[in-house]
Amino acid sequence: METTPVIIRPETKADYEVIRKVNKKAFKGKSESKLVDAVREGDGFIPELSLVAVKDGAVVGHILFSPIIIKGETETPALALAPMSVFPEFQNQGIGTALVKHGLEECRRLGHKLVVLVGHEEFYPRFGFVPAGAKGLTLPFEAPPEVFMVLELAPGALNGVAGEVVYPRAFHDID
Ligand SMILES: CC(C)(COP(=O)(O)OP(=O)(O)OC[C@H]1O[C@@H](n2cnc3c(N)ncnc32)[C@H](O)[C@@H]1OP(=O)(O)O)[C@@H](O)C(=O)NCCC(=O)NCCS
Repeated sequence: METTPVIIRPETKADYEVIRKVNKKAFKGKSESKLVDAVREGDGFIPELSLVAVKDGAVVGHILFSPIIIKGETETPALALAPMSVFPEFQNQGIGTALVKHGLEECRRLGHKLVVLVGHEEFYPRFGFVPAGAKGLTLPFEAPPEVFMVLELAPGALNGVAGEVVYPRAFHDID
């Protein structure tokens, strides 16, 4: 089958509706699309880190990184990867991988040093994510340990860092 390249670029206002749609379709519910809208309206939103995957001129996937704090004895700024979505008919074609790889490069380019996530334990380790609990990080909610992961974008970024992930308000309001 002939394939066309996937382009990853920052969202524009014209993408808001299709971003809602891809999140609803991929997650089979409205929570994640509401989360994206709430993060976009909240403090600290980073427009360069809300990225869409475009294939043949159409948005087929989305990924969002939001600023968080790791609060222990000190406060460390970091990013949370959430949510990420690809339309079901476009899944398993490498689009999610392209979104994560390009997204992490953008995070690094913008000077961010740590990314945490709660997600599929078979998918994210291929990008270098490791269990975050073993690194001294905790979540403000219950989750199986294997789904809570962290990635150092700069070597040694986790040195001396421990504590609980503090999500922005938008994350508390999702149902
Ligand atoms: C997860 C998701 C974004 C991946 O996008 P994608 O374009 O299908 O990803 P790729 O084609 O690059 O990679 C596919 C890999 O992801 C894995 N994957 C997809 N969904 C998965 C799931 N629910 N659990 C575990 N692994 C999953 C596939 O098994 C495949 O692994 P393989 O390469 O070892 O065969 C997409 O499947 C999706 O939108 N899922 C529904 C929403 C979701 O779960 N989002 C992520 C929350 S952490």
